[in-house]
Amino acid sequence: MGETSSVGGRPPCVAITGASGSLGQALLRGWHSRGARLIGLSCGPRQLDLRDAAGQLLPLRDETWCVGEEDRLAPLLEEVDVLVLNHGVNVHGDRSAAATEQSLEVNALSSWRLLELFARVVAERPEEPGRPRPEVWLNTSEAEIQPALSPLYEISKRLAGQLLSLRALDLADDPNGPRLRIRRLVLGPFRSALNPIGLMGADFVATQVLAQAGLGFNLIIVTPNPVTYLLMPLASFGRWLYFRALTRSSR
Ligand SMILES: NC(=O)c1ccc[n+]([C@@H]2O[C@H](COP(=O)([O-])OP(=O)(O)OC[C@H]3O[C@@H](n4cnc5c(N)ncnc54)[C@H](OP(=O)(O)O)[C@@H]3O)[C@@H](O)[C@H]2O)c1
Repeated sequence: MGETSSVGGRPPCVAITGASGSLGQALLRGWHSRGARLIGLSCGPRQLDLRDAAGQLLPLRDETWCVGEEDRLAPLLEEVDVLVLNHGVNVHGDRSAAATEQSLEVNALSSWRLLELFARVVAERPEEPGRPRPEVWLNTSEAEIQPALSPLYEISKRLAGQLLSLRALDLADDPNGPRLRIRRLVLGPFRSALNPIGLMGADFVATQVLAQAGLGFNLIIVTPNPVTYLLMPLASFGRWLYFRALTRSSR
């Protein structure tokens, strides 16, 4: 997986939120085939299973975590090399106060809190020879820059994407060389509980995501919509310029 799996040391430990969902399961299977140790972070009260295409159970450490409980994950994150922030919710046409709070908490603020927490954990843990460089992947969605026929989904995913752009200026841009690698997943519609009529399959999307990560991309785009391939890099570059010009680091 680019730098992550090319290191000759131990296999990476990968933790994925939204682990019971379609893409969470597909990414876990993809990482398993690359030899990673897996942690599934899932809010559901049930036992989380991971199976391959033949129905065989795959090794997975199942950890329960729900939005709002981010601090509780600090000891577990000590072990993690790649944290994939994948959980998400789509309230569709609901515009109630509860739906607004749920969208902001699940899609934006919990991921931002986990990003900050992981960055702190990584900054404080000693370098270990052979340990892969730590990475955070944030699954924002095309809704970051395009209509998704769901205003609260768009608002919350845009907030997540903008917070990532802003904080990446400090978290991934260390004067002594970047320590935490940050990757953004910008995905088009795929089939899942969140979007039953998506065009793509979750396994196809996961395969493409892992292939692009293996090529070293930090901006990973998988969508049939060609406009996203043009707009997303421009949006990222525009934000980088704007945030860099108007904000400063407190370090
Ligand atoms: N499907 C699409 O068309 C599409 C397109 C672009 C981006 N995405 C993004 O891809 C990610 C995965 O979505 P998916 O399509 O695979 O949907 P999914 O199957 O519904 O999975 C989403 C998972 O997020 C977790 N989640 C939901 N509410 C939560 C909460 N309150 N607290 C903690 N976890 C919660 C749940 O997993 P646990 O029960 O395991 O916690 C859920 O299974 C999401 O971020 C989504 O926005 C989806």
